[in-house]
Order: sequence, then structure tokens, then C-alpha cells
Amino acid sequence: MLEGKKILLIISGGIAAYKVLDLIRLVRKNGGDVTCIMTKAAENFITPLSVASLSQSKVYTDLWSLTDETEMGHIRLSRECDLVLVAPASADIIAKMAHGLANDLASTTLLASDKPIMIAPAMNPEMWEKPVTQDNILKLKNYGTLFIGPESGDMACGETGTGRLSEPETIFQSLCTFFSDKPLAKKKIIITAGPTYEPVDPVRFLGNRSSGKQGYAIAETLRDLGAEVTLISGPTHLHPPKNMITISVNTAEEMLEACKKALPADIAVCTAAVSDWRAKNPAAQKIKKTASKSQNTLILEENPDILKTISQLPRKKRPALVIGFAAETENLHKNAIKKFESKKCDWILANLVGKDISGKERAFGCDRSHIYFITQDKDTEDWSLLSKKETAQKLAKKIINYYNESK
Ligand code: CTP
Repeated sequence: MLEGKKILLIISGGIAAYKVLDLIRLVRKNGGDVTCIMTKAAENFITPLSVASLSQSKVYTDLWSLTDETEMGHIRLSRECDLVLVAPASADIIAKMAHGLANDLASTTLLASDKPIMIAPAMNPEMWEKPVTQDNILKLKNYGTLFIGPESGDMACGETGTGRLSEPETIFQSLCTFFSDKPLAKKKIIITAGPTYEPVDPVRFLGNRSSGKQGYAIAETLRDLGAEVTLISGPTHLHPPKNMITISVNTAEEMLEACKKALPADIAVCTAAVSDWRAKNPAAQKIKKTASKSQNTLILEENPDILKTISQLPRKKRPALVIGFAAETENLHKNAIKKFESKKCDWILANLVGKDISGKERAFGCDRSHIYFITQDKDTEDWSLLSKKETAQKLAKKIINYYNESK
């Protein structure tokens, strides 16, 4: 399963280090090649000799080792592998990675690496939950570091919570998934999601009830197929998904700016429910109940249309596929076609929003929606009632087909 794959395993200090001996055995048994770097702290838990015996290769421990550094060991080690895996990843090495520190062989190699980095954290639950650790984790996720675990359960220190190193079998499976077929590998995809909030005064805004769920589901699905995803999200209650760049914005203008910065891209998927208008002159102070008519009258101006702007970029800058959504309360098909004509995107996923005749909410905030998939030549497919994840998977299939057909 891992034939010919070269893994650089960085073992940092933690009681869970003993588990990686089993992991090394599993990787080798399945055809993978493991080279190990151990931190000084790791040597307190397992010996370089046992790691060398199981990996059947030299173990590296010292940044200043003359023989290794004459060949620029840290650069070579990071270049000669397909993936860098840090397991267990202690709070210390995570903090070093998040801040770009390079003061030993492990951290220097990580900073010098041009390969994907996957980490399996292991630490005491209090350490894991500390805001500073969570900030570091978020930073690394946004840098594209891949995560395995940590798991919840009883800890070696006697406490219970989240912080256990994932089992060797779980880490091994994550390696297999990583190296499995990725049809969208190297495809750069920008996804807008959620609502935008346009300030009226410092405490009020114009917005809508979009949950962001559809955009996030698409982002996660495309990421799992190997795409490099940049998710540009308005305010939602959702956690930033793992292993992609997530940019949080509030207003339509911020969303458009973030999209422009994220370009060039192969694909843009605009799922965001962008507010069409913003207050022309947001008040600097809270508008009081006793405000005069001139103070409490809202003058609106139109927001930029992000989908339209991206669709109408010059050919060289325009993503090959620009995909929009159409949220309609009536005349779904007719209105969706009109949107095609004005925006000039390639595909539209149209759905009905608002209350249905029985008074039940459709689409916004719901877990299922009835989608019609429409292409530029006005071909329409009825995808029927699907969960957001199913819609994301169907869209992913369409994208993969598009690339297969254009080969
Ligand atoms: N969209 C956008 N920027 C805007 C408005 C909409 O990028 N300022 C995108 C949405 O992300 C969606 C598509 O355009 O992909 C259609 O959005 P929708 O709200 O259905 O339609 P509008 O263009 O806003 O038109 P209307 O509100 O008149 O239906």
C-alpha cells in the first residue's frame, strides 16, 4: 500500500513515542521506507537504537553532526522524502512549527521542508486545550499542515480528555489515504461560503441566514480529493475545516479582496450568500432609538458581485471553471438562467430557499436541499433532495469528469 513511498518520521518527546515503533513496523511491512529524526526529548522515551533497528536505516538526532551537515543534512532529509510525519507531535514542536523556530535538527528540517507535513499531536488535555496551543494548531492548519488526531480517552498522566496520540493503525491508514489516488491533486480551488455582514453602525449589520454549511461541505470534499482549497468565509458558527486555507471576512468587499488575493486558481465555487447591498454611510456610533429621521434612514449602495467579477476576468486570469449558486424563492429555472446570462459563470446549482407551502424552511440552515444543476448550454439536471455532503460529492464528480473530458 505504501510501496516506494519515502516517509521522514520526526519523533518528538512524549510518553506516546513508544507507539511509533509499531508504526515504523507497519509502514515497512507495507512497502514504505522510513527515515527517522529524533529530538533530544524523544531520546528520553525510546532509544535511537530501537528506532534504527525497526526502520533499518540511520537515525538522525543532531543538527551539528559534522558528517551529516557537510552534506547539509537537514535540507537533504527534507528533500528526499515524499511526506514529513511528526509523531508524536508535542506541544513544544507544534509551537516551534507555528512560529518558524529552527533550533534543532527536527525544527530546522521542518522549516526547510518543501514537502507536505502531517502531524499526530500527543499531549496532556490541558496543554491541548490551552488557547495558545489551539492558536498554534489553527495557524498550522491554515499553513496546510495535515492533522491526525489527537484522540480522546485516558492519558498516561492519569487524566482524561483530548490529547492521546492516534493508534499506529490509524496513523498508518491516514498515510495510505494520503498516498491514494487524488484526482484533483494540484488543482487550486477558491470557495466562498456563508453570509456577509454589512455594518449599519458598530453593533448592527445587514446580513442573511446562510449557515455556510454547503460551502464548507464542498471545501472538505474537494480537499479530500487532493485539491488545494482556499475557503473564504463570511461569519458562520462552523469550525475552520482542517488542511485548507481558511480566510474569515465580514463584508462583500472583504470577500472580493480575499478572492482576488487567492487568485490565480483553477476553479472558483461561489456558494456565499453575499449581501447585495451595504449601508452607504455606516454610522460611527450606535444609532439611538431617538435618532432623527435623517439619522435613522438607511441609504444603500450595491455591493460588488464576486461571482460576476471572477467570471468576467480576462481569459488568462479567469479560473477554467467558475461555479455559482442561485438561491430563489420562485421561478427557479427562469431566474437561474437569467443569472447565467448576467454573470457568465460556467455552471449554476440552483435551489429554492425560503418557506415551502407547508411553512417549512428550505435550504438556508437546513441539512438538505433540492438542487438543479444547470450548465451554460442550459442543460438542467434535477439532483432531487440531497444533503449538503451529497451535493458536494455530486459536484466533485462533475468537476472530475470535466477534467477527464478535457484531457
Ligand atoms: N454572488 C456573488 N456576489 C454578490 C451576489 C451574489 O458572488 N454580490 C453569487 C453567489 O455566491 C451565488 C450567485 O452569485 O453564487 C447568485 O447569488 P444569489 O443571491 O442567488 O443571486 P444574486 O446575484 O444576489 O441576485 P438576486 O438576489 O437578485 O437573486
